[in-house]
Amino acid sequence: MENNLLVLSYLIGSITFIVGLKMLGKPDSARKGNLVAAFGMAVAIFGTIFLYKTTDGKHLHNLEWIFGGLLLGSVIGTLAAKRVQMTAMPQMVSLFNGMGGACAMLISIIEFGHLGEILNAANTPTQEIMGGAMNELVQTIQAALMASMRIKLLIIFAGLIIGAISFAGSMIAWGKLDGKVKDYVLPAQQVVNIGLLLVILVLAGLFIAGTLSGAWVFYLVLALSLLYGVLFVLPIGGADMPVVISLLNSFTGVAAACGGFLYDNQVMLLGGILVGSAGTILTVVMCKAMNRSLTNVLIGNFGGNKTGGGGAAKTAQGTIKEVNAADAAMLMKYSKKVIIVPGYGLAVAQAQHTCHELEELLEKEGVEVKYAIHPVAGRMPGHMNVLLAESNVPYDKLLEMEEINPEFATTDVVLVIGANDVVNPAARTDKDSPIYGMPILDVDNAQHIIVMKRGMNAGYAGIENELFFDPKTSMLFGDAKKTLLALVSEMKNS
Ligand code: TAP
Repeated sequence: MENNLLVLSYLIGSITFIVGLKMLGKPDSARKGNLVAAFGMAVAIFGTIFLYKTTDGKHLHNLEWIFGGLLLGSVIGTLAAKRVQMTAMPQMVSLFNGMGGACAMLISIIEFGHLGEILNAANTPTQEIMGGAMNELVQTIQAALMASMRIKLLIIFAGLIIGAISFAGSMIAWGKLDGKVKDYVLPAQQVVNIGLLLVILVLAGLFIAGTLSGAWVFYLVLALSLLYGVLFVLPIGGADMPVVISLLNSFTGVAAACGGFLYDNQVMLLGGILVGSAGTILTVVMCKAMNRSLTNVLIGNFGGNKTGGGGAAKTAQGTIKEVNAADAAMLMKYSKKVIIVPGYGLAVAQAQHTCHELEELLEKEGVEVKYAIHPVAGRMPGHMNVLLAESNVPYDKLLEMEEINPEFATTDVVLVIGANDVVNPAARTDKDSPIYGMPILDVDNAQHIIVMKRGMNAGYAGIENELFFDPKTSMLFGDAKKTLLALVSEMKNS
């Protein structure tokens, strides 16, 4: 009966993870999706604590430690999530991801200890006490036991290596995003990294095959994997961190799935696989949307050391037209349709609330207002959605690139706020441009384009934007928040 209930709790956990993940795909159901998956996780955790029985038929003991840990983790997690600033979200994701990697690593360390005892027994030579036939039988059993032990060892090492890399890498990523750790490139960094990874794999392989023995091999692999995690993330430029975090996230998922294998725990296995595959898909989607290969992100230096907004502009070509807040407000007020394109600059200026206020004022004047969301606008996945949701912009106003692109041709004014690369037509026209082929928002199809930014600086890709020289474009220079406040006041006073 208890076992059936345990299986049921795991089934509930597994189903809610899948349903929750699906709901996370849309902004309006994302919050609920998170709660659904969290509920499933709680069911699976309490199912394990109260219903799981060890091989000797006993329930889990040490409940005071288990609940102590649960309480401590819940308090720290709740406080951290409540206090975190929207702009510091990537750091927190990285930190939490690192904790997942550390768990997987610790599971491997504990299970290696358990396995060591069994391995010693299996390796003990049989003694000639019961005659040849009996000895042969014992040896066959020993061989079978060793084969199954090797599979277990393989999973333990996989969890150890991946978990340790994910933990150490996430800690460095957290430090970099928080400005505590600087980018650092060793001489011949890639050779060192590849060499280190090979040493780790060879040592683990030899131990699993039985060629090498002794706990020192295991702990050496652990130390080298931690070192690899550090060296792998250290040279990657700050603005590429979201891709790295997503990759590390998928590592943590795979490491957790290894734990699921070890404990024959279906919900842990499924949860790990979901995190692993979702992280991998997100990494691929981000790379595609940035028009870069993963190798280029990991070892290239496009975007390296840049944190946005600081790229040097190339020599300007053509002339630019400026507009002031009063004229820009007037143009929008007398339009039928305005599309707002938010970008990294909106996030930096923390101008989302003022932006929402402007949208409401325009709507009061009978203007149709929509937002165009590019998949990699900003510096983390879903950056713009999160930002605008925070200021209560209705979800149905946020339109994805594929949906909104055909609408620009029938739009009177596009207001680009602190976005640059994601609206650069060079992605369509200039084969030599590093962003050539990157899908962009076709804002140049609209009748008027107003671009809000502080100056003529380049964006993340460090390249000039020909949109700024388009005769239909007017530049509205200044910090996004200050300029939006000026637009709002012009709207109110006109
Ligand atoms: P960017 O191309 O980086 O352009 C942002 C622009 O905002 C800059 O040109 C800057 O110009 C302006 N800006 C900065 N601070 C401002 C402020 N306070 N007020 C007004 N403007 C300000 O941004 P984007 O268009 O959002 O494109 C995102 C880029 O990041 C893409 O290249 C993408 O590949 C990359 N990226 C994205 C992600 C994800 S997952 N979202 C991950 C890694 C990299 P001024 O300095 O002249 O003001």
